[in-house]
Amino acid sequence: MSETLVIRGGHVVTATDTFRADILISDGRIAALGIDEGWTADRVIDATGHYVLPGGIDTHTHFEHHNLTGTTRTADDFRTGSAASAAGGTTTFVDFVRGLPGESLLDAFHRRRASAETGSMIDFGFHLMVPATANSDDSFDQLRRLTEEFGATSWKFFMAYPGLMVSDDVLISGFTLARELGVLPMVHAENGHLINAAVDALVEEGKTEEHHHMHGHPVAAEREAIIRAATIAEWVDTPLFIVHVSSADGVEEIASLQNRGRPVFGETCPHYLVTGYEDYSDTDFEAAKYICSPPIRESVHQEPLWNALAAGVLGSVGTDHATYTMDQPEDLPPQKPQGRGYFPNIPPGVPGAEERMMVLYEHGVAAGRFDVNRFVDMTSTNPAKTFGLYPRKGTIAPGSDADVVIWDPRADHTIPATGHRSRAGYRLYEGMTMRGAPRHVFSRGVQLVRDGELIERHGHGTYLPRTSLHDRAPNPRPGNRSAIANPRNREV
Ligand code: URP
Ligand code: ZN
Ligand code: ZN
Repeated sequence: MSETLVIRGGHVVTATDTFRADILISDGRIAALGIDEGWTADRVIDATGHYVLPGGIDTHTHFEHHNLTGTTRTADDFRTGSAASAAGGTTTFVDFVRGLPGESLLDAFHRRRASAETGSMIDFGFHLMVPATANSDDSFDQLRRLTEEFGATSWKFFMAYPGLMVSDDVLISGFTLARELGVLPMVHAENGHLINAAVDALVEEGKTEEHHHMHGHPVAAEREAIIRAATIAEWVDTPLFIVHVSSADGVEEIASLQNRGRPVFGETCPHYLVTGYEDYSDTDFEAAKYICSPPIRESVHQEPLWNALAAGVLGSVGTDHATYTMDQPEDLPPQKPQGRGYFPNIPPGVPGAEERMMVLYEHGVAAGRFDVNRFVDMTSTNPAKTFGLYPRKGTIAPGSDADVVIWDPRADHTIPATGHRSRAGYRLYEGMTMRGAPRHVFSRGVQLVRDGELIERHGHGTYLPRTSLHDRAPNPRPGNRSAIANPRNREV
């Protein structure tokens, strides 16, 4: 029997309500909610003046992620990536599985699962990446097996990147099999041909400085890919999830699809919300810190993304945490410096696992864009529902895993340059002031953060099979949610 725990005096926040309640935790689960029940427990935690939130769920990470050719790898592995997540109030991540050159998807799945089981401090699942070759090899048989045997019920299709970019034929056959299996298809929505043409033109003109990465990824590429993927999904009659939406134009297309009743779900990332091209347009190699795909665009795109989040047009915020260092440590394959002065060679990706919840609390809740219930919805509940983890994860209710964050809404602080858990070696949000922070974090009742200090418990994380779409209540239609359900919910 693990220790019993009572969290006393806090305000419990779910995606719909905020209320005063104590929480009894036993055997890693939430046993009961109540007030002054006289529970006895091994430990009592005082949460007076704090919010008590379901642990954050980040359904878009790239820990220990190898590029297609196997020539480089992200700086963060499952140890450091999960530590960064936990330190920031995230207790579940969903990462990706893709085979290394010559490795089957099945083998890649078992390799990555074993590595995460050893290194991760928090629970995890995997989306499967559909290879570009899927129509001409046995990939779909392997995808079926991994879905049916291990509950990997979401597949990602890349519409860009040489070697990864799937044809429309693969989108059609992949979406069709996904529909049969109850899998949620996800797309990296950028038209790869347009990107190739734009990058080639820049290189020809000699515009290879780091910041030109953004010009190589035109907004039109995102818009076209969303429309094409959604058109195919409509014909196949499957829901669709658009990852890392980066532009006002992308939001506009998704909103218009939702207005026609299409089940198209969208995610954005913290870096698209609070950093902009202006932050790196007149720098040299410093711009490499911001290079990711889709790119961080002009700041004019930020407010439409916030509005879409507040309204529920975009339902979740993942980090797309994919870190490469700005220097070259000896124990890592080539990182950002390999592309110094030549942006096409800079590995794309930015950090964010540690800051996701704080950025959304500060710029979302504290700034008055939406209430704390919407914050919980986009950082935990909705990702859990969308990806088949609910109600084990994503809420505070009897029977759910005791993944709990005691959140201090008055922890005014500035993001420092150092002291972070990620191996990125830099923070995009350095110097930003924040009005909230996780004070205590629990995963299945085990404490991972105490008074803001991380307790390293690598290997605590466990693999999460996820339900298929056939076994779930349909997600509420995306869009049209009230940003401020109850203005009083802002106060603790
Ligand atoms: O730049 C990014 N986002 N790198 C990670 C891979 C991807 O496209 O999501
Ligand atoms: Zn992507
Ligand atoms: Zn990604």
